[in-house]
Amino acid sequence: MEFKFNDENLGRINKILEKYPDKKAAVMPVLYIAQEQNGWISVEVMKEIAAILDMQESDVLGVTTFYTMYHKKPAGKYHLQVCTNVSCMLRGGYEIYKAYQEKLGITNGEVTADGKFSLEEVECMGSCGTAPMIAVNEDYFENLSTEKSLEILKSLS
Ligand code: FES
Repeated sequence: MEFKFNDENLGRINKILEKYPDKKAAVMPVLYIAQEQNGWISVEVMKEIAAILDMQESDVLGVTTFYTMYHKKPAGKYHLQVCTNVSCMLRGGYEIYKAYQEKLGITNGEVTADGKFSLEEVECMGSCGTAPMIAVNEDYFENLSTEKSLEILKSLS
């Protein structure tokens, strides 16, 4: 399905482009706006961004796939990212990940049937000093235990 930015987001993009002498440099914030509008970065979204920023579609794809914050398929209303990299792993990251899998009945990259939650196991999110941690959409929750993580999930249900 074709993707077009709405007027409000086109305005935001134009403002961003004023800051960059080379349009291509704006690809990350523009991808972010696209994700806000569309929920994920589809092929059609990448095509539209490539056209707006005078880029090759393959270059937009490269940026999209490199960064875990861009969803490559539809995500749930609450996208749960659980870090299982070294610091988080040593302090219970896998236990949290396992508890979420069991509670939600989904595994990495899946969405619950009601579309409310999606789960992703991720690499370090730069918050190792407060491991273990998760992100719910854009918000970080740190210094967690499995119990606290399940409370967070409950508060979103
Ligand atoms: S290892 Fe989990 S945030 Fe760095």
